Amino acid sequence: METWSLTKSGYDPSAFAADGNRFLSANGYMGVRGTVEEADKTQFPAITLAGVYDQYQDKWREPVNAPNCLFAQLSMNGQALTLSDLSKSEHSVSIDYRHGIYQRDTDFGPVRLKSQRFASLDRCHLLLDRLSIEVKEDGELEILTGVFCDLWDINGPHLFDQSFEQGKAISCRARTGEKGIVVAAAQCAKADFEYAERFVHIKDGLGRILKSKVRKGDSLTLDIFASVYTSLDGAEPVQAAKEECLQAHARGFESCLKAHCDAWESVWARSEIKMEGDPAAQLAIHASQYHLNCVAPRHADNMSIPARGLSGQTYKGAIFWDSEMFFFPMFVYTQPEIAKSLLRYRTETLGGALVKAREYGYRGAYYAWESQEGGKEGCTNFNVVDVFTHRPVRTYFRDKQIHISGDIAYALRSYYEITGDRTLLEEGGAEVILECARFYLSRANCRLDADEVDYDDVIGPDEYHERVSNNAFTNQMIRYCMESALKLRDIFNDRLEWFDALLERLRFMEDWRLLEKTCKRIRQMRRREGVIEQFDGYFDLEDCSLADVRARLVDPREYWGGDHGVAGTTQIIKQADVIAMMALFPESFDDGEVAKNWAYYEPRTEHGSSLSACMYALTACRVGRLDEAWELFMRTATIDIEGGGKEWAGEIYIGGTHPASNGGAWMIAALGFAGLRLQNGRLELHPHLPRQLTRLVIPISFRGQKQIIEVSPDGAVIRNA
Ligand code: BGC
Repeated sequence: METWSLTKSGYDPSAFAADGNRFLSANGYMGVRGTVEEADKTQFPAITLAGVYDQYQDKWREPVNAPNCLFAQLSMNGQALTLSDLSKSEHSVSIDYRHGIYQRDTDFGPVRLKSQRFASLDRCHLLLDRLSIEVKEDGELEILTGVFCDLWDINGPHLFDQSFEQGKAISCRARTGEKGIVVAAAQCAKADFEYAERFVHIKDGLGRILKSKVRKGDSLTLDIFASVYTSLDGAEPVQAAKEECLQAHARGFESCLKAHCDAWESVWARSEIKMEGDPAAQLAIHASQYHLNCVAPRHADNMSIPARGLSGQTYKGAIFWDSEMFFFPMFVYTQPEIAKSLLRYRTETLGGALVKAREYGYRGAYYAWESQEGGKEGCTNFNVVDVFTHRPVRTYFRDKQIHISGDIAYALRSYYEITGDRTLLEEGGAEVILECARFYLSRANCRLDADEVDYDDVIGPDEYHERVSNNAFTNQMIRYCMESALKLRDIFNDRLEWFDALLERLRFMEDWRLLEKTCKRIRQMRRREGVIEQFDGYFDLEDCSLADVRARLVDPREYWGGDHGVAGTTQIIKQADVIAMMALFPESFDDGEVAKNWAYYEPRTEHGSSLSACMYALTACRVGRLDEAWELFMRTATIDIEGGGKEWAGEIYIGGTHPASNGGAWMIAALGFAGLRLQNGRLELHPHLPRQLTRLVIPISFRGQKQIIEVSPDGAVIRNA
């Protein structure tokens, strides 16, 4: 069985959206959706840019799609060749996970077209596509390529004042509406056949038509070199884009391909998990690692990854807690410089978090639930649209999901503990932890000298129950955040002068004393027969089954949470909450306790978020539920193969790739199956190898040392690489 690629045969208009995600190629700077070259807007093609946002009118701010500089349409004897015109077209697309190459193979009848397209991993502004055409009838072939701005946008348009220039490289310059960011794209082509060329203005763009007399049996190749820059990258984006594609043209496709593949090989050398015994699992983990690796910001040291990666504009291209809790673990253990970049995004957007806290009347740092550039909050007050009334539903994720600040502090501390690198804490990380702790001091719902300090009116990871009190997960994160702030003094015990000066600068002395008192008095979790109550009063809610609640739905796209959602008055939860806490704080709970809570909460969990299954899988390993762990692992790791996951929140499309599941798959393999744990500064393995696997190999990097974890039914070892 092929474990490095995924192929889909046949023409399937019902899957345009899902296939665009499934066959994505990306390089951290941009993502090219897996649609065919000639796709029009109805097929949702997009080249989505990382970290470039725009708001059109009063719609949601979202990432900007670059001009389509990879468009190519073939015509034969004046007839455009499109998939829909062909009743018997033979068509397949595939993605090569090893090197991130999208391929299509279409027999249009008069010609057969194969392509090989990728977002270059070694040059982040560069896109390439090789079209190989096999001619099956004599005739006149025309190929239209160019740079076009007639784009699919969810909340657009975003590109205005477009201007185009023709030449060896065609280029386009446009600017975004909100901030006037210049977005430039350029494209040039190299053919191995004779043609006549003319330029045409269509589709809000500039194209060139290459016309050629062809004969049956001819094999033609057209290489397209395209490039995208914005004014965030430098002063002359148009010039830069033209030069980038002309230079690639001069180097040639093969040489660009080789450099790109070499870059991928080095990513895999550092991160590839080998799973022997079950080829479907090996494919799934390759797919997962591909999808997470391809959206990693390798071109920058202060960027994070949106919740739907670079597969489009859903979730507003925003950065969620997904980054710290789900993407971060794979990176910190395999490519720590990327983990550092994710966290630098947070240290550099502290300003936004300080502003948000003030807006709500608090002190310290309250990070955006859906963070865009500068830490700006992208989450709106109405994040769901009701399917019955079509009215926006007031949701409180933005206001109440306060665990986000603690999640960031948690990852900052883990980064230091796993890498041994203190620079991130020195360069803003310590300040973030302190400001997050300060936020929690000011957010407490009672006097800080009370016997037990409550946190009321919050939302935990389970978003279906809004505005609850003392969510166990949230309180645990708050406690840990406060402890981590206090721990900084030990971490900097050889630089106490520097540390005290930091406290002084932040006017933190008084808060420090409050932290010492408060962190031990945060409301303890309540337990009933060993089961932790998710929040105050949770056990009093209706205890019904998932099937009962599902049966109450009138519309399959109905939102389960909020005031009127079917889950709100019941114990049915959206995603791992208590169990997520147990997965993230393994030392704080013993095996028996984890087992009890797992047995209670799993049947009550909808797994309505792709963040859920992996937390259950991880903890299932620990309590010896290996068959369930395996099923949850496969569910997690195949999500972007199947193209599954929830596509709707009420009336809002939320489809895309699932980097949190991708990261979750790594977590299950490393932290679950291999049982990797950092204990008192040392790595330990507590393996739980499912019977489906005969061998598991995981490369990691720990405190600068490359190591290999190997697990087999006979045992587990970590050795230096
Ligand atoms: C989940 C959140 C998650 C977000 C982005 C939501 O459906 O409930 O926990 O952060 O999706 O992935």
